[in-house]
Amino acid sequence: DGPKPLAGRRAIVTSGPTHEPIDPVRYIANRSSGRQGHAIAAALARLGADVTLVSGPVAIADPVSVRTIHVERAEEMRDAVLAALPADIAVMVAAVADWRVASAADQKIKKHPGESIPTLSLTENPDILKTVGHHTMRPKLVIGFAAETQDVESNAKAKLERKGADLIVANDVSAATGIMGGTRNSVKLVSRSGVEKWPDLAKEEVAEKLAALIAERFRQK
Ligand code: C5P
Repeated sequence: DGPKPLAGRRAIVTSGPTHEPIDPVRYIANRSSGRQGHAIAAALARLGADVTLVSGPVAIADPVSVRTIHVERAEEMRDAVLAALPADIAVMVAAVADWRVASAADQKIKKHPGESIPTLSLTENPDILKTVGHHTMRPKLVIGFAAETQDVESNAKAKLERKGADLIVANDVSAATGIMGGTRNSVKLVSRSGVEKWPDLAKEEVAEKLAALIAERFRQK
């Protein structure tokens, strides 16, 4: 079953959305399905890597031959990622919520007729990619995703620097593209040496190509 160019290499992949609680029964989430991240974890494992997948709540199965850790909130995802260091490769694919509710209620918030409507006060979540990209145990190869609806390329270039990443896989997630939550992806790879546009592919094909590119980077080292 194929060559194992990543044998002996450790990889951490994040995937899916995060759920940020409002109270015990409600949460803030997004449309990420986990398909792209899970496919990348599986593709790296097929090339022989020892893969830890940290997944938010998704409706798809754990990939085979991958150590999968299930989390809900961004802070739990960050803790699981840091606990999986050191690693050679980090691919942060999860659509981590940028904000969480500042103080989630520990009882269900009740609706009282005639009373005022509650407001949610938000606070910033930890940026997991940025934390890993600037960590003392920074993996040799740090890859991020950029889900944008406008200025995909320039935003990805800025993100490369800010997050301390080697590569940003940028995609247009405008509603019309059907990418977020869908089965296909059309990406641009943005690195310090330039931009490479890939054709529209199944998420599994994007994963295969990305895993092959990662293996190539390690072959050269
Ligand atoms: O800043 P932005 O959310 O567009 O960056 C996207 C990239 O950063 C993705 O790789 C995503 O997994 C990662 N990210 C993260 N933690 C956050 C926000 C984004 O790891 N809190």
